[in-house]
Amino acid sequence: MNYPVWDVSFGAGLLIALVAITHVFVSHFAVGGGLFLVLTERKARRNHDPALLGWLKTHTKFFVLVTVVFGAISGVGIWFTIGLISPMATANLIHIFVWGWAIEWVFFFIEITAALLYLYGWDKLEPALHAWFGWIYFIAAYASLVIINGIITFMLTSGTWTRNHEFWRGFFNPTYFPSLAFRTAIALALAGIYALITASVQKDPILKARIVRWSTWWIVPSLAVLPAFGWWYIRRIPADVWAATHGPMPTATHYALFAAILLAVTFTLALLTLVRPGRMHLAFSLLVALAAFGAMGSFEFVRESIRKPFVIGSYLYANSLYFAPIPGDGGFSADEVTSAGVLQSAKWIQVRDITPANQAAVGREIFRVECQSCHTANAYRGVKHYLQLRQWDQSKIQAMLGGLEFMHNGVMPAFAGTDPERAALAAYLATIQPVSAQASAAAADGRPALTAANNW
Ligand code: HEC
Repeated sequence: MNYPVWDVSFGAGLLIALVAITHVFVSHFAVGGGLFLVLTERKARRNHDPALLGWLKTHTKFFVLVTVVFGAISGVGIWFTIGLISPMATANLIHIFVWGWAIEWVFFFIEITAALLYLYGWDKLEPALHAWFGWIYFIAAYASLVIINGIITFMLTSGTWTRNHEFWRGFFNPTYFPSLAFRTAIALALAGIYALITASVQKDPILKARIVRWSTWWIVPSLAVLPAFGWWYIRRIPADVWAATHGPMPTATHYALFAAILLAVTFTLALLTLVRPGRMHLAFSLLVALAAFGAMGSFEFVRESIRKPFVIGSYLYANSLYFAPIPGDGGFSADEVTSAGVLQSAKWIQVRDITPANQAAVGREIFRVECQSCHTANAYRGVKHYLQLRQWDQSKIQAMLGGLEFMHNGVMPAFAGTDPERAALAAYLATIQPVSAQASAAAADGRPALTAANNW
């Protein structure tokens, strides 16, 4: 209500997902890959293995390019997108965890400095000092995961923080440890998966085979324990939050299935690299990476969708309305908007009075501020699609808007606003997918009415 809405035609949520998923795929590599570098260097030096050291040097270059350069750019990209798409959530996360972020940035600084010194130190530093920079890098990188994990899991399970607003309660929330274990395993697996890529372009088949075998040691055990950590994670999600994952259009369960399938595919492909490790092709290593990318993306989609209707669990809805009033904050709770009206509360709306002539246009504005954080008109999660399936006319839509919070096991917040505003929103939605009253009545036959028990 306090900020302008950025119209992303294909879906704001989808844009965040795209930027965030590419970033996490690289940032987890940045963590696990750090340990991979130091342990591989130690192994090569102990065995007096110049060939392995030579490869590791080029792998370091690849590592720094991917993690420091792309990782940093995509990380800034996340701030840029979430700041524009979800300014309320971003502002809240900054305020709640201000010292957490400060510590995070210190670790980033150490991480980037150590990575560059490790890269440039390959030929210039004593092996022992060089290894130290590798360890400093890895410890700082892991510490940054330890911090950000608290903030990300807080968004899903805010736990008892909502009662006392204590930093540590929010940070060490119910899903903190399972998520940390889960992400650590992903980071270790990704270290091996990315190593397959640089291994695949090695000319010497014997060296290639050794690197591929060493990499699968990182991938296979890590992926094998992942389902157990996933199970632990799910068990720590409150039952009512988890319930929202079921229903007729269960986004979360679909993605959970994708994640499981793609995880199994990644696991199998990683094992297959052992069949002829000396002849593994670049295309094959990219296929492993692609499967892992899909698995990771699906997992992030699951997390996002079970969090709905909230962006910060039991505190802030995805459409930037608070669950309960927060005195002195300047934001609005859903109830406050229902009594004052959307048009009187939203700061970036041009028209504040509804007339029969502008009803649908005002409805569109209401859609932008209340629904567009999760929907588009006719692209990603497009309401046109749903209305086409339902065949609702304007009056049915208006009735449906009165019970949004009961649909799909409560993935949506209740409509916040006055009755005339609800009518205006219905008028707009009816223009997206016009349905005659007869067609609507015919489609309604044989379908149960809207009830709180839902699943219809
Ligand atoms: C927190 C995100 C969120 C917000 C905000 C939100 N929705 Fe939804 N909406 C969803 C999800 C998720 C679904 C389920 C669709 C799916 O799983 O594909 C849904 C489903 C729907 C459906 C289809 C219902 C059915 O069963 O046919 C309609 C219509 C709809 N939303 C309209 C709206 C309108 C209008 C608003 C604004 C007042 C709104 N939504 C706000 C997330 C949201």
